[in-house]
Amino acid sequence: MPARILVGVTGGIAAYKVPELVRLLRRAGHSVRCVTTAAAEAFVTPLVLQTLSGEPVRSRLLDPGEEGQIDHIALADWADLYLVAPTTANCLAKLSHGLADDMVSTVALATRAPLLLAPAMNVNMWAHPATRENVSRLRERGASFVGPEVGELACGWEGEGRMSEPAAIAAAAELALGTRSLAGECVLVTAGGTRERVDAVRFLGNRSSGKMGYAVAAEAARRGADVVLVSAPSHLATPAGVRRVDVESAAEMRAAVLRELRDASIVVKAAAVADFRPSAPAQRKLKKEDLPEGAGLSLDLERTPDILAEVCRAEGERVVVGFAAESHDVVEAAQRKLARKGCDLLVANDISSPATGFDADENQVVFVWPGGQVEELPVLPKSGVAAQLFDRVEKLREARH
Ligand SMILES: Cc1cc2nc3c(=O)[nH]c(=O)nc-3n(C[C@H](O)[C@H](O)[C@H](O)COP(=O)(O)O)c2cc1C
Repeated sequence: MPARILVGVTGGIAAYKVPELVRLLRRAGHSVRCVTTAAAEAFVTPLVLQTLSGEPVRSRLLDPGEEGQIDHIALADWADLYLVAPTTANCLAKLSHGLADDMVSTVALATRAPLLLAPAMNVNMWAHPATRENVSRLRERGASFVGPEVGELACGWEGEGRMSEPAAIAAAAELALGTRSLAGECVLVTAGGTRERVDAVRFLGNRSSGKMGYAVAAEAARRGADVVLVSAPSHLATPAGVRRVDVESAAEMRAAVLRELRDASIVVKAAAVADFRPSAPAQRKLKKEDLPEGAGLSLDLERTPDILAEVCRAEGERVVVGFAAESHDVVEAAQRKLARKGCDLLVANDISSPATGFDADENQVVFVWPGGQVEELPVLPKSGVAAQLFDRVEKLREARH
């Protein structure tokens, strides 16, 4: 949902990344306005921020001209979210003590919007007991934090203090703005393609990237749920606000899912779990020298456990959603799978199209319901599919309460 995001910029070197952040927030449909400290202007010009936000930038608190254009209280009232990026050590100190001697800190005191801070500073400044105290005080008061990350710092030091990347801050902003419609729910999501060991170095895998499951986890977190993501190997970053449990094989995924299942009120199984695995994986690497040239090698495969069916059989009122990746007769195959497993909703997708299948950013899915009804969705970004999915799941949860 489009929101009004006020971005406070303070005087850290990472301020040069704020134009990209503003661009991402605008691209997501939000209205953005910027306020800066005097120090921030040494690192990013108001003109850049004004051009990218499409709104005048306010930096001087006591400037009659600026105040006449839009007064600082009106700005504080305008915001649905107040995001300060980067947040300097100095700014953290001011906010924690309630000082109000510049534009950024005064608006922080005046606004009733949630506060999201993206600190960035030298590793020793971040570790300093004064900063630690300021951070805990702000957290206790309900401020959210994104970062800082560990890495190479502009000052030449290495360690915790780097501002999170603009994309991660934009995702945290979505989370902070979230609808809270799944608050109190515990959502268990599986994602990615499992790997089944052949020998010490090889595995049988599949082409799942995990993008769909990660989008589902991100959407659940955005709606305020406690989210656990059981993930087969994936290069994707853990979505903001999500607890991730890494697994490799179908057996490990089953163990992790059953461990987490007790607390889950909603389960979405988007992982591509191997159906078969080598029945006797070799402990050591299989060597080609051990076979005569041109000879074949057969692998004996066995069925892996059916995690979805097991989850559906488990006791509880939880809503269970399965995914089916099909290359032909998509709806019929999904209807058979739904009947076999007994889940509440099956999301079927046709993986034969490169634009919407594995590793794509978009997906075209069909919701298949237990009564036999079928809902065909248009091509949507995977985040859009996840939103549609939770709109349905929320109705199912309401019906069960
Ligand atoms: C080149 C340079 C880079 C700086 N980078 C940071 C930084 O990343 N984080 C920080 O807390 N302070 C940094 N400072 C110090 C702040 O600019 C200084 O504390 C300033 O008073 C902050 O003002 P503000 O919080 O009102 O924006 C830097 C200073 C210089 C000269």
